[in-house]
Amino acid sequence: MKKLMELMAEELASAFEKAGYDPEYGKVTVSNRPDLCEYQCNGAMAGAKAYKKAPFMIADDVVAFLKDSNIFSVAEVVKPGFINLRVKEEFLAEYLCKMAADPKYSVNTAEQPKTIIIDYGGPNVAKPLHVGHLRSAIIGESIKRIGRFVGHKVIGDVHLGDWGLQMGLIITELKHRKPELVYFDDSFEGEYPEEAPFTISELEEIYPCASGKSKVDEEYRNEALEATHQLQQGKRGYMALWNHIMQVSVTDLKRNYNNLNVSFDLWKKESDAQPYIPDMVQQMKDQGFAYEDQGALVVDVKEESDTKEIPPCMLLKSDGASLYTTTDLATIVERVKLFDPDEILYVVDKRQELHFIQVFRCARKTGLVKPETELSFLGFGTMNGKDGKPFKTRDGGVMRLENLIADIDEEMFHKIVENRSVKDQDAKETAEIVGLSAIKYGDLSNQATKDYVFDIDRFTSFEGNTGPYILYTIVRIKSILNRYKEEGGNLDAGEILPAVNASQKNLMLELTKFGSTIENAFEEKAPHKICAYIYEVSNAFNSFYHETKILSEEDQAQKESFLKLLGLTKDILETSIDLLGFSAPDRM
Ligand code: ARG
Repeated sequence: MKKLMELMAEELASAFEKAGYDPEYGKVTVSNRPDLCEYQCNGAMAGAKAYKKAPFMIADDVVAFLKDSNIFSVAEVVKPGFINLRVKEEFLAEYLCKMAADPKYSVNTAEQPKTIIIDYGGPNVAKPLHVGHLRSAIIGESIKRIGRFVGHKVIGDVHLGDWGLQMGLIITELKHRKPELVYFDDSFEGEYPEEAPFTISELEEIYPCASGKSKVDEEYRNEALEATHQLQQGKRGYMALWNHIMQVSVTDLKRNYNNLNVSFDLWKKESDAQPYIPDMVQQMKDQGFAYEDQGALVVDVKEESDTKEIPPCMLLKSDGASLYTTTDLATIVERVKLFDPDEILYVVDKRQELHFIQVFRCARKTGLVKPETELSFLGFGTMNGKDGKPFKTRDGGVMRLENLIADIDEEMFHKIVENRSVKDQDAKETAEIVGLSAIKYGDLSNQATKDYVFDIDRFTSFEGNTGPYILYTIVRIKSILNRYKEEGGNLDAGEILPAVNASQKNLMLELTKFGSTIENAFEEKAPHKICAYIYEVSNAFNSFYHETKILSEEDQAQKESFLKLLGLTKDILETSIDLLGFSAPDRM
């Protein structure tokens, strides 16, 4: 379905052509003077030079061909040569009727769907999820949903960190605490127990303890490095422990992501790349890309145009152990083999940018991906506390995601019961739904690359540019529609009629922008554009609501038209928040 802007531009282009000018000049933009007009065309200004004519003369010629336009009620020239435009109410109403009948509300689906793998979430097994992983989950989930909505095949992969030093640390600490465990008996050849020798809470205590020790005790750290290496080499007892760690913590991770309304198609992990490493490394050696440098195996990735130094990409340490880079490269090999993707997108903290520059360059240079395969990095900024420093607990510790969510839900619960007399259980469930919108909208409404301040008071407010405000607007619409139904009204009856007042027209014009907003948000991987859009739509709806009697309208066809418009507004808002990864309750 064509966008309203396209239809307008076509009309302008044809008027330029009929008047004897290049149709290319017929571009239309949203007015930067909404007090004067709704849209404008600056083509006559742009064409003045080529035609050696005053811009207003060109504009006059063009406007003559817009007199009988179906689309414009006003097309007038203002000096020095702008064409100011207003859309016909009838045309707008018809356009919205078509939009309402389109399952995607005017979003066009990709003609050539791409296969896109999104690498997001990236939690580390055995370490509790903390707020650093929150952004990746929220942003990645939203981009995945937007990509699917515009018709691509998008595969979300959680890419668990299960192969690094944290595993060696846990194994080492367990060995110190319970050396008698059969996993540490090298002569043991039997079956290892099915039951893990720890619970999730023990595991969560073991990791920080081990990590703390390794920072002050060099010998302990070396022991952990050695354990990591042995695990990577497939030592039986350690593999059995690794299996336990995985089982216990993946169950817990799934529960956490579920609460966030985040889901992955693939629960792949760093260790899945391990089998691809030997051949990959060998190939890079054979091709002459990988060489030894101070015992380590590296590939140069610097380029002449670099303005800062890009160090070589390290494949193997001097002891033969693989690194974060090695795993990411081998994961590319695996992804190409299994999915032949057109694009792999990584949604990771922007502080890892250098790592991805190295990985991408190395993958291209050594031919791990086809030249046309896109490797993209969406590096997000830090979530800070009100003090401008990375978000911490009140006593300065790392904030666990669960606690953060609990804090928000509690705040939401207070606000909801303060506001109205909802039953307790109901209010609790509602607080969770609204709380999630507060967290996600608070995050997604910022450009992903920027740092932002996590401000519970602001995020949970029912007013202003917040998730709860958007939900409040949706709930308000739902309750009007429900009341109409309860009074015996039929929501399927009637159609959207021309606007009766300026605020209604404004709402209608806002709704027409849905298609281009979503397509653009996908192209730029910018969920914040959807947030900005639904904030505008909500404001436009609320002005319309305050200025217009809806259910008390006496003319039945007019009333039905209002209700149809409400229905479309609700559908567009709900589709948008679904793309952002949250939903609205029935009441608040
Ligand atoms: N586990 C990593 C971390 O916590 C993030 C993984 C990001 N994805 C990747 N393919 N490297 O820092």
